Amino acid sequence: MDLKERIETLLAQIDELKASCASEVEEIRIRFLGKKGSITQLFEEFKTVLPEQKREFGQVLNQLKNRATEKINALKEEAGEEQQKTVVEDHTLPGDFFPIGSRHPISLTRAEILQIFSRLGYSVLEGPEIEDDWHVFGALNFPPEHPARDMQDTFFVSSGENRVLLRTHTSSVQVRAMESMKPPIRIVCPGRVFRNEAISARAHCIFHQVEGLYIDKGVSFADLKQSILFFAREMFGEDAKIRLRPSFFPFTEPSAEVDVSCNICKGKGCNVCKGTGWLEIMGAGMVDPNVLEACGIDNTTYSGFAFGMGIERIAMLKWQIKDLRLYFENDIRFLKQFETA
Ligand code: DAH
Repeated sequence: MDLKERIETLLAQIDELKASCASEVEEIRIRFLGKKGSITQLFEEFKTVLPEQKREFGQVLNQLKNRATEKINALKEEAGEEQQKTVVEDHTLPGDFFPIGSRHPISLTRAEILQIFSRLGYSVLEGPEIEDDWHVFGALNFPPEHPARDMQDTFFVSSGENRVLLRTHTSSVQVRAMESMKPPIRIVCPGRVFRNEAISARAHCIFHQVEGLYIDKGVSFADLKQSILFFAREMFGEDAKIRLRPSFFPFTEPSAEVDVSCNICKGKGCNVCKGTGWLEIMGAGMVDPNVLEACGIDNTTYSGFAFGMGIERIAMLKWQIKDLRLYFENDIRFLKQFETA
């Protein structure tokens, strides 16, 4: 066979090539293009071709080599796809295990608080984090010179009479509710709040609160006590007790600070409750008639109570978390402990 015939035979062979796996393709490559491959061989022989025939043969030889390379690449790709298909279809292979995430303790506690109050007929209402002076302070009966409005506590966004600021408590949402809803109002308002505090184990510049508000005809302090007792028992266990200490908030009259019996020492006194047997959980009180009036609710017909608690605080008591910063650091070792919670 002369050179020309051999090239044609090889071309025909190449077109017919088939392979079912990557190693077969490799064998083919060696057979044609390897060091001793038939095409490589032809290039060797090409050296002996007469000078006037070099041009013609050079071209066909190069074409042959390109065809072979293209075909082999195509076979390689097909074999690769074939291999992948087999992997996907092999149902006997063990499954992939993805690490399961966990819900953040703040989310868990928030959900539990909202759930407990929803059983008492409360609905959930959220409000903006960026607020104005009126909703955070003015409508809530804060006198103009009240220290909570101070630069040291509040992050201000703008100055002026009704300046814009980051809300320092979720009580602003009760103002929005009273302005836009008609009694009876029964809402819980969860959300983030901001205070200009140095970050430490016991304080943070961002934390979470749940505000509660109930307004209707004839709502009394007894209703407030009973609702909070129900919450405390649901949250901390059937034998949880509550204690109300007189306190002061501009937006409630009378006001109280609410303690729950220490669920660790069962009231005997331990280092968590600092020997008192009680843990503070929230502020509460009867909505001040001035607040009702400022928000457009007739304070001769309606009365109501409000309460506000820190979610971090409740979670701390529930799981004995000693450092507030843990909530924000997203250390996986901390978060993983709540996988089954
Ligand atoms: N807003 C208060 C705070 O940020 C918490 C609070 C106390 C809310 C008493 C209330 C309340 O609704 O009646 O500390």
